[in-house]
Amino acid sequence: MGFDGWVSESFDTVDIIRAKRDRQQLSSEQIAWTIDAYARGVIADEQMSALAMAILLNGMDRREISDWTAAMIASGERMDFSGLSRPTADKHSTGGVGDKITLPLAPLVAACGVAVPQLSGRGLGHTGGTLDKLESVPGWRADLSSAEMVRQLEEVGAVICAAGSGLAPADKRLYALRDVTGTVEAIPLIASSIMSKKIAEGTGALVLDVKVGSGAFMKDAEQAGELARTMVALGTDAGVRTVALLTDMSTPLGLTAGNALEVRESVEVLAGGGPDDVVELTLALAREMLAAAGVEDVDPADALADGRAMDAWRAMISAQGGDPDATLPVARESQVVTAGADGVLSRLDALQVGVAAWRLGAGRARKEDPVQAGAGVVLHAKPGDTVSAGQPLMTLHTDTPERFARALEALDGGWDIAPSGASSAPGPLVIERVAAG
Ligand code: URA
Repeated sequence: MGFDGWVSESFDTVDIIRAKRDRQQLSSEQIAWTIDAYARGVIADEQMSALAMAILLNGMDRREISDWTAAMIASGERMDFSGLSRPTADKHSTGGVGDKITLPLAPLVAACGVAVPQLSGRGLGHTGGTLDKLESVPGWRADLSSAEMVRQLEEVGAVICAAGSGLAPADKRLYALRDVTGTVEAIPLIASSIMSKKIAEGTGALVLDVKVGSGAFMKDAEQAGELARTMVALGTDAGVRTVALLTDMSTPLGLTAGNALEVRESVEVLAGGGPDDVVELTLALAREMLAAAGVEDVDPADALADGRAMDAWRAMISAQGGDPDATLPVARESQVVTAGADGVLSRLDALQVGVAAWRLGAGRARKEDPVQAGAGVVLHAKPGDTVSAGQPLMTLHTDTPERFARALEALDGGWDIAPSGASSAPGPLVIERVAAG
């Protein structure tokens, strides 16, 4: 037994690390103790790092992941929306470039009779955060008390706000540690991290948008499928009706990547227009959320077409101090990137566009960095479109023109133009549906 266990602790940290190193299963009691002891400071960061690496290398079975998730939930508070007059459903995306779907989706689902309690985060790295996008709306505030959140859910039906620090606090510490120890990519740790926060949030139903492709966390469909199945099982075990869609993130979603630019595109979708892929995914996720919440016979396409979703958006923005009629910020400088040849755009890489938008000022490198509301990339062509030499392919936007050079570097080699007539139809947007089996 090591020195840290001799006072009155139930287990020895080093024994637990060795067990996982040697591919053994951890018991429910060992897992509950591990998370609690980490929160109490009994397990040091270097020990948790070693355990996280052993989990990354040797995995966990379904029972272990379920226990790990339950222990993370038990480290904080749980919200309860069972007193609301309507059912609740939430959506979580694993993050992608141009993924603004939460913005039209939450008011759309609310307009169809299901309340959406969406606790979101700010972006770090090449995928933008939902709160950063909404904060480009003048006056809008992300921080709500629990009472304000419940009132807005009852009155408006949708709320998108900052997750307080009380939900799964052990995850916050562990995630920061994983970020600096090369252990973010462990599927048991990703699944339990995401699902502990969503289960603690108290939603009745949950739809997961698991992205696959260059701009996503998971680069291949096999890994993404495993993550989706693990999360669906965790939600189902916890009594949350959970479904996942695997969706393509090899090219950006829609025509914009950047905060105010994505709000503008979302408003176009709510007005009945917008790019086809954004509309398709918004409706696919809305249908899944409504079905998981037990609302049948309502077609969300009607609520988009007849303006009810737009009304819910305006109410949602106003309830949080925002002005839905305000002019959105526009970046001071722009630069157009043109096609070098005639043909068909056969590839436009999501990650490279995401990194370019980030370097233009739309994202942050450290969590305390500010973001530029108007910065980002507007695409003028998507894979499958015919282009001609000299035609604008995209426009880069920033307040700080010295950023253009690094953004252009990020885009280098980021697209292909095939000869006209070559077959280059993009693959399906929704690749697979994963439900409890
Ligand atoms: N998002 C999370 O919340 N946790 C992870 O581990 C990865 C992505």
